[in-house]
Amino acid sequence: MCGIVGYVGDDTAGQIVHGGLENLDYRGYDSAGMALLGDDGLTITKREGEVSNLSVPTVTGATCGIGHTRWSTHGPPTDTNAHPHTGMSDDIAVVHNGIIENYEELRATLVADGHEFTSETDTEVVPHLLERELDDGRDLRAALESAVAKLEGSYAIATVCADTDRIVATRHESPLVVGHDDDAAFLASDVTAFVEHTRDVTYLEDGDIVTLADGDATVYRDGEVVDRPIDTVEWDATAAEKGGYDHYMLKEIHEQPTALRQALSGRIDLDRGTADLDLTFPAGFLDSLDEIQFVACGTSFYAAEYAAQLIESFADVRATAELASEYTVDGGGDPRRTLTVAVTQSGETADTLGALRRANGGGIRTLAVTNTLGSTVTRDADDSLFIRAGPEIGVAATKTFASQVTTLALLSVFVAQERNALSAADARDVLTDLRGLPGAVQQVLDDAGDVREAATAFVDASAYFFVGRAHGYPVALEGALKLKEIAYDHAEGFAAGELKHGPLALVTEDTPILAVLTEGTRPEETLNNVAEAQTRGAPAIGIVDGSVETNSLDTAFSVPSLGPVTPLVANVYFQLFAYAIAKQQGRSIDKPRNLAKSVTVE
Ligand code: G6P
Repeated sequence: MCGIVGYVGDDTAGQIVHGGLENLDYRGYDSAGMALLGDDGLTITKREGEVSNLSVPTVTGATCGIGHTRWSTHGPPTDTNAHPHTGMSDDIAVVHNGIIENYEELRATLVADGHEFTSETDTEVVPHLLERELDDGRDLRAALESAVAKLEGSYAIATVCADTDRIVATRHESPLVVGHDDDAAFLASDVTAFVEHTRDVTYLEDGDIVTLADGDATVYRDGEVVDRPIDTVEWDATAAEKGGYDHYMLKEIHEQPTALRQALSGRIDLDRGTADLDLTFPAGFLDSLDEIQFVACGTSFYAAEYAAQLIESFADVRATAELASEYTVDGGGDPRRTLTVAVTQSGETADTLGALRRANGGGIRTLAVTNTLGSTVTRDADDSLFIRAGPEIGVAATKTFASQVTTLALLSVFVAQERNALSAADARDVLTDLRGLPGAVQQVLDDAGDVREAATAFVDASAYFFVGRAHGYPVALEGALKLKEIAYDHAEGFAAGELKHGPLALVTEDTPILAVLTEGTRPEETLNNVAEAQTRGAPAIGIVDGSVETNSLDTAFSVPSLGPVTPLVANVYFQLFAYAIAKQQGRSIDKPRNLAKSVTVE
């Protein structure tokens, strides 16, 4: 949620900050604003709605500026609640991501001291606290250090002050990254903001204070300068552009064959029948495991559910997937014989980080499976495994789901082999199926026109029900989530066998049933459940691979059989279907209402 941008350099800060906000508006798009420091002090401009509503003010000599795009938590999206926020005067401006949990108490103290507030946000306490610290004679860096010591909650904060030609920023449980160019320094909550200018980055750590001045960035810790490594981002700006597609989401759906090749690259040894992952666990640890727990949210949770099934079937170990926001370590087994795997595309989802910290606190070894180098999850977990999908801009996750399941399938084989639970021959079969994924997904993508045409008949449906068994079940859940997210239509995923235990009451001729009917998902039984819905008038669409006779379906789409990962290929049809419905309805596909790509509050 929310995006922060900062720039200090020789160029016109307004254009660069605005460009950065446009690159980041998938993080939140309720309102946007910027503060530019020019020859005549600070100019603050902010506006409800998307970044495109915000025009860049003309500010002479503005070579320093901060900006923000918001996903509201405290206070509705209005011009007043938009960031930057100021204190009693307009000489200080603050942008903030996260939530300040003790803001009511701080606000009450500040009001008692005579401070007047204009917004309903938690953020506004920060510029007022800073004013107080500056009045006490501190410089901006010391003032920020002292002010944040009073905050509880999570935050990334950047500030500029009228008489100091610099940006000062800090983070606590909310991402912040610095970009280094020859004569400029950048700041952002995500490298996407400035990757068109530089790929040399420093990921800040919790508690770091960074100063951006004279085109340079200096990181401080407890008042002392500290060295932080400079990493090079592997992808460039073109990876985060639409590349001729109408929407990022469609581009990312079509990028899946490439993303899957990247996920698999160098990780399969077919001769030996092994999954080669760059992971080292203590000797005997995997072998002695009683349980693997996956924790995740949203789409990542469905990938985790898929993975839990794969691990159980390959590795002969109990595996569970739990919603991160519901996860507790209480009542679990022996922490020394448990592995908790946090699955998160962004690596910044607060619920998932919370679950990970609970696992760490309970003495459980933890592994992060993520798309984002340098993200918080990679610091908090004992080990990290990257899904290598490249940047995903569309709020609704598509290619990262495919890359997560694929990477987790490799992890399942890896764990199985460490436990001697899978023979080399059986492992080779699974790995061969995984190798077939990019080509199989491409075949589905080549069928996109047919899906678009078929979807036309269902665009006015009153609800959509997705069903599947075994690995088809998480895919049904994910298919329904995509439709909800981007078409705003009622869509539910059900375990196919459960349809008759309640949901059937919802079925009418206006509720299409979309079913996964591929090998390994008990398609005969699912087909019976589909028939029960068809008898009540529902049209049926099935994703099939020839493993059962499916003439009874109203519409069928074919996928090649790839063993346990066939439903992952079926999912691409569901993505295309959701996209086609949302497109025909003229929805805001890349930035669905009320949602944000990364939710950094619990
Ligand atoms: C948000 C996004 C979802 C995403 C979920 C988990 O709710 O809108 O698309 O699945 O966060 O994100 P993560 O980055 O942890 O995978």
